[in-house]
This record gives sequence, C-alpha cells and structure tokens, in this order.
Amino acid sequence: MIKQAIIPLAGLGTRLLPLTSVFAKELLPINGRPGIEYILDECIEAGIKEVIFIISKKKKIIKDYFYKDSFYKKIIKKKKDPRILKEYQKILKYKKMIKFVYQNKPLGTGDAVLKTKKFITDNFFLMLLPDDLIIKNNCSKTMIKVHKRYKASVMASLSVNKKSIPRWGIYKLSKKLDKKNQFITDVVEKPTINSAPSNKAVIGRYILPKKIFLKLQKQKPGKGGEIHITDAIQSLINDNEKFIAHSFLGKYLDCGSMHGYIKSSMEIAKS
Ligand code: G1P
Repeated sequence: MIKQAIIPLAGLGTRLLPLTSVFAKELLPINGRPGIEYILDECIEAGIKEVIFIISKKKKIIKDYFYKDSFYKKIIKKKKDPRILKEYQKILKYKKMIKFVYQNKPLGTGDAVLKTKKFITDNFFLMLLPDDLIIKNNCSKTMIKVHKRYKASVMASLSVNKKSIPRWGIYKLSKKLDKKNQFITDVVEKPTINSAPSNKAVIGRYILPKKIFLKLQKQKPGKGGEIHITDAIQSLINDNEKFIAHSFLGKYLDCGSMHGYIKSSMEIAKS
C-alpha cells in the first residue's frame, strides 16, 4: 500500500511574480481555499497517511499556516463561532499528517525529492506537484490502483499542444497495458518541439520507488543546472525498472501561471 506522499513546495514561483516575492503561491486562494488544501484532500481521499512538505526558509509561511494555532485558540475562546471552530479542526486534521523538510537552494525537483530520503519507509511513495490541480477525478487514487495492479511505478500523462512541448517532461511510450495505461520507454525533460518523442506530457503526480534515492544521490545537474526527477526516472528505466504513463480522467488545471490560476478558480466554482 502507498501511505506516504511528498510535496515539493520550495519553488520560487517566478511565474506568479510579483505576488510570490512576499507570499507562497500554494496558499493563494482558489475559489476561496488555499490551493494546497485541494492537494491534501486528494491525498487523504487516496488513503495517504503521512505527507512530507519540502519547503524553504522563504516559504515558512506554509508551516505557519498549518502549525501556528495560537491565533485560533484566542479567537475560539472569545467567540463561539462554529465556522471558525470547523476551520480550526480542518487545520488540525492536516497538521497531524504533515512533516516538514527544507530545501533552501532551488536546485530542482530531484534535489527536493532527495531531501525526503530519511522519511520514506515503504518501497513506493506518491509525489504531487502543487501547481498541477486535477479536479473531478482523484488522479492519485486511480494511480495507486494502477500501481497495485501492475506492480510498477506510475506517472500521470496528458496530451498537450505541440507548441507547449518545451514546457514539459515528455514521454516516449511503448506497449499499451489497457485503455488508460502504457509503458514508458523514455522520458525527456523539456525537449524542443522537433526532438520530442511524442506530445504526451508528464503531469505532477508520480508513484516512485524508494530506489530513486540511490539514483538521485549520484545524479549530476541536467538542463538549466538543476537536478531533475525526470533524469533519475530515465536512469531507472534504463535499468529495466517498470514505469507506466497513466492517462487520467480528471480535468487538469495549471495553477503555476497567472492565467491558469485565474481559470482554476472559475473551473472549481463551476464544478
Ligand atoms: C515539472 C517537471 C516536468 C513536468 C511538470 C508538470 O516541471 O520537471 O517534467 O512535466 O513539472 O507540471 P516544472 O513545472 O517544475 O517546470
């Protein structure tokens, strides 16, 4: 069973500047709730028991949001407002399952994953990238089922516009296992349109094997000088580790850009 999830939250959020110069984008309200709460609810519903947040000193506000409860305690004493009490109970529920680790230098997603090494106890764990919201269907829950069925690592996959290919990790796929699942033979981080092996992109939901830490420990920086999780995955595939691309059913919302962020609120309000 997959019981642990990790969420990299140390990203600089440059696509959402100037807001992100003073605020964590993951706390920005999407239809009235911080984006990160949607991600946490997806985890809880998928049966995850422990979530590891990778933050930086600059993103301490995220830890405060879940851990600093003196304000709630004071207010609740003064006002017996059931709404506030309900919000506090929700925060306490999240707090119980979250641990924090720090990545103070933005060295890439692979480096962020490596910071969680000492916490991961099982052979496989889930990773969710908080910019990628998937609504209307719990992608993590379905991916856990796929993992159980095929005893393999699983990553979310979406067909994207040719023009946007250089923004994503892109798959080369082989055998179809069923309608929604296909083996991955290659995964390339942000290729040019002409060199891309397909238009199937990596979306931020990954079921990864613990073995990936051994790869990450030895990995040299890749594109843009960062340690990419994509490169560690390719290295595992080269060692014959099975990885499946899962075409998810839900609707994908990109909350990492201003346009996507605004659109997300509208989409969630509609749903
Ligand atoms: C990261 C991954 C990329 C993936 C994307 C999904 O990129 O490196 O492979 O396609 O998330 O959102 P980033 O958004 O950090 O540039």
